Amino acid sequence: MLRFAVIGHPVAHSLSPRIHAANFRALGIEAAYDAVDVASADLAAALRRFAADGLRGINVTVPHKVAVMDLVDRVDSAAAEAGAVNTVLFAPDGSTAGFNTDMAGFLHPLKSCGFPFAGAKVLVLGAGGASRAVVAACRAAGCASLTQANRTARPGMLQLGSEECLAAARAADLVVNATTVGLREGDPCVIDAGAFRAGQLVYDLIPVARETATLAAARAAGARTLDGLGMLAAQAAESFRIWTGRMADLSAMLSALDR
Ligand code: ATR
Repeated sequence: MLRFAVIGHPVAHSLSPRIHAANFRALGIEAAYDAVDVASADLAAALRRFAADGLRGINVTVPHKVAVMDLVDRVDSAAAEAGAVNTVLFAPDGSTAGFNTDMAGFLHPLKSCGFPFAGAKVLVLGAGGASRAVVAACRAAGCASLTQANRTARPGMLQLGSEECLAAARAADLVVNATTVGLREGDPCVIDAGAFRAGQLVYDLIPVARETATLAAARAAGARTLDGLGMLAAQAAESFRIWTGRMADLSAMLSALDR
């Protein structure tokens, strides 16, 4: 039986076990996928234990995505670009390889809806781990310009909510919420709702089935919207492909998220 896990701290809330179980069921594969809470101090030992136990692969989530980079034998170009690993493959020869499927996962829903990256102006809100993969993916996809805004001032970034940020949002063809605003029910729209307009696409990476205040505001303004569930399912599908060489049943994975 194939065995997989997701490691994080905390990890109990992770939707990954549910997504992967749905895919295994749809494909008729006998496999197990567990959520394992691993504290940072135990990360190296946990990787050795998973390899010894014969796991095929693991997903890595907060707060281990950066630290795990130094604990694998090699990383692929997407992981190097994003500066983070979310997928580890335990190869038959005993070596370990790190991948980042968040970039492909982020791009998949955009490709599915035919978003034209060439010439596109992109505004990314947030400067945390999630934003790194988004910025790398948008650059790789060939966007014309990319602006980033964050609550806490960062060099080269706009201040979230400032006049410049709102102007950049109005000008953008694609606005991505890569902050954690929206994770909690009742969270407000991430920026002034007046910043959204028809003709643009607003993509909220918050992986929840309910509509976030950000997407509700964008929809009310006539913008097209994408939620974070599509990205979540697509990054899981890409991890599965890396581990097994097989295509996942993406619609089974999406259905598992209760859309
Ligand atoms: P992730 O891995 O999901 O990106 P993270 O690395 O903790 O999580 O980053 C969280 C992002 O959400 C950051 O950009 C953070 O802004 P700060 O750098 O100012 O902390 C942003 N964020 C979190 N709470 C926020 C809030 N209430 N308003 C605006 N931005 C917020």
